Amino acid sequence: MKRLSGKTALVTGCNRGIGKAIAEKFASEGANLICAVRDIKPAFEAEIAVWRERFGVEVNVVCFDLANEQDIKEVFKALNREKRVVDILVNNAAVPAGGLLLMTPTHVVKEVMQVNFFSQVLITQLAAKMMVKQKHGAIVNISSVTALDNQAGWTAYGGSKAAMISLTHSAASELAAFGIRVNAVAPGLIDTEMGRQMDERCQAEMLSRSCLKRKGTPEEVANLVCFLASDEASYITGQLIRIDGGM
Ligand SMILES: NC(=O)c1ccc[n+]([C@@H]2O[C@H](COP(=O)([O-])OP(=O)(O)OC[C@H]3O[C@@H](n4cnc5c(N)ncnc54)[C@H](OP(=O)(O)O)[C@@H]3O)[C@@H](O)[C@H]2O)c1
Repeated sequence: MKRLSGKTALVTGCNRGIGKAIAEKFASEGANLICAVRDIKPAFEAEIAVWRERFGVEVNVVCFDLANEQDIKEVFKALNREKRVVDILVNNAAVPAGGLLLMTPTHVVKEVMQVNFFSQVLITQLAAKMMVKQKHGAIVNISSVTALDNQAGWTAYGGSKAAMISLTHSAASELAAFGIRVNAVAPGLIDTEMGRQMDERCQAEMLSRSCLKRKGTPEEVANLVCFLASDEASYITGQLIRIDGGM
């Protein structure tokens, strides 16, 4: 028996980076996937075909942009109409946004919050309603160390990631009665497009603060997320776990 056999997991932003590593890890542990992506690119279609064949799991794709709440509602309407279940939700997709406080217009903060927080709240509500009916579920939110540490340049992004931590605590308290666990992970510097886009001085500063002095891999984050999503973590909820090489 694999760790996630018989479960269906919805993972946002799983066409690349950490989300892709999570989806692949879940599939390797027997989970059927609902891959939520902005659009379906040929390279991702090829990846999905490999997962289906290698792991013998079902892989479905749904498309929405986190900037568009109506699209998200339509996708969940269709999932409900088709009587799909969601046992595991990973709120992974997010947009990066660096910028010093005095240089960040509030409209940028609002745009980042829409993608990185408001739409994540909506997805969590819609998935949790499905889980409440089932009386079980696991939700993992991807936050960031930028929400926790003293570091310049993260007013918009760090704020959105801090909000995800608060959502985790609140949702864990409210949903426990329905057998739903909610946890968050806070990665440090991870070797993905987003990590590589970061200003080089900022990357060097983050590495200098870590014990391991290297970037993490998406697979290392996926291992932690898989543990939290699985029944092995049945007594863990409302927690934030850092995965940052010891910052
Ligand atoms: N990498 C790091 O160092 C690091 C550190 C801490 C936390 N994190 C967090 O880890 C998670 C994954 O990051 P990553 O490093 O894997 O980033 P990534 O490689 O840039 O991937 C981001 C994913 O989010 C999707 N996305 C972005 N904006 C979207 C939107 N408006 N609607 C729908 N999807 C959208 C992207 O889709 P498209 O391909 O369509 O753009 C992509 O699938 C994020 O929550 C991030 O904040 C990353």
